[in-house]
Amino acid sequence: MSNKMWGGRFEQSPDAIMEDINVSIDVDRHLYAQDIAASKAHAAMLAAQGIITANDAKNIAKGLDTILSEIGRGSFEFKRALEDIHMNVESRLAELIGPAAGRLHTARSRNDQVATDFRLYVRDVIDGVDAALAAFQHALATRALEHADTVMPGFTHLQTAQPVTFGHHLLAYVEMAARDRGRFQDARKRLNESPLGAAALAGTSFPIDRAATARALGFDRPMANSLDAVSDRDFVLEVLAAASIAAVHLSRFAEEIVIWTSPLVGLVRLSDKFTTGSSIMPQKRNPDAAELVRAKTGRVIGALNGLLIVMKGLPLAYQKDMQEDKQGAMEAFAALSLAIRAMTGMVGDLAPDPERMKRAAGDGYATATDLADWLVRTLKMPFREAHHVTGRIVARAAADGVALHEVPIAAMQEIEPRITAEVLKVLSVESSVRSRTSYGGTAPKNVRTQAKNWLKRLEKGHISG
Ligand code: ARG
Repeated sequence: MSNKMWGGRFEQSPDAIMEDINVSIDVDRHLYAQDIAASKAHAAMLAAQGIITANDAKNIAKGLDTILSEIGRGSFEFKRALEDIHMNVESRLAELIGPAAGRLHTARSRNDQVATDFRLYVRDVIDGVDAALAAFQHALATRALEHADTVMPGFTHLQTAQPVTFGHHLLAYVEMAARDRGRFQDARKRLNESPLGAAALAGTSFPIDRAATARALGFDRPMANSLDAVSDRDFVLEVLAAASIAAVHLSRFAEEIVIWTSPLVGLVRLSDKFTTGSSIMPQKRNPDAAELVRAKTGRVIGALNGLLIVMKGLPLAYQKDMQEDKQGAMEAFAALSLAIRAMTGMVGDLAPDPERMKRAAGDGYATATDLADWLVRTLKMPFREAHHVTGRIVARAAADGVALHEVPIAAMQEIEPRITAEVLKVLSVESSVRSRTSYGGTAPKNVRTQAKNWLKRLEKGHISG
């Protein structure tokens, strides 16, 4: 039997292989709610424009509601022979309401239908990711306030650089997440135009009202060019690009958690809730959740890359290649959402070891810059010269195997006679962080202010400063 939805001119049924490569129901069934919402908006518009009768529209809407609840409770039978979600819904509608179902497809095509459905779907994804990122920021800002005074080593080149506070470090990720949310919101604005009514590619001869269906579906306006409307997938690409950048941020943080929790480093501990054991080595506590967040980034970036490759050679307008836009994107969105939730959980869970952090912060002469700054401020030395003098004092400390504050003042004076015992005050890690009061700096007082501001903004639902 040929396909009853489009098989008028066909005599044979498709080959089983044809069906295998063509079928998309396993993926686009996830668009069922959007597909039904768009069909209801379309039917109501058709009736308002006198294209179908009010009675047909009423039956169509009722039938679609029945299908929505059938799918919702799992009693709907998805048929592979019907290819995709659009034809599965329409075919069931015909069973429920008879021939009037056939009027629903007036003045539209699966091409504008799928573009509409997927825009609605991605819009929901954006809203979900935004809420998840807000919760992540809230968890970070809460811990940052708690650890505004906790001193840890700051790194460049993964070498101990200068002391920072743990709170300051956590707030860096709040800023990244704020930019991520901004990128998703920005993409949402461009996404929020309706392709519905572009029909197959050229528009339609029926007197449809595209502004009405756009409004009914929460879009800002209809898309202005029918060819563009059915063939554009920028909205997926943009959101995958935003998702990739967000995933990279999470991955960098996950990598830090892996480093911090390594017994070699031991700055932070995760509880049993976010670690796993080894089946052979009884002592192991593995940060699997962080490792998997790091790995899922590959899936997200892969989906972006995959869709860019699908799209890059496609002439206008709709090409079946575009059916491949959904699976990777849906998996990527799921991976990102899970990664955000996992990181939020770990942020709440992680327990820094303040003693060890403080000791590590002082290792590697991390307050050398503070010594140089003291020479500049107190002795009015040019910074370059102060850098050189400090370098010699560090070399002396290294030769004696002591920390900077343990170098005897007399030994420092052999290098620079004007140094006094006053200098010792700036060599502790606490005084180092306390002195970094420049805007955006790591001073505990700054960190407290920033953390409180973020918590206030987040509680008010603001995205950025
Ligand atoms: N399943 C298709 C997709 O996801 C729907 C559009 C099909 N259009 C067509 N002319 N075959 O892209």
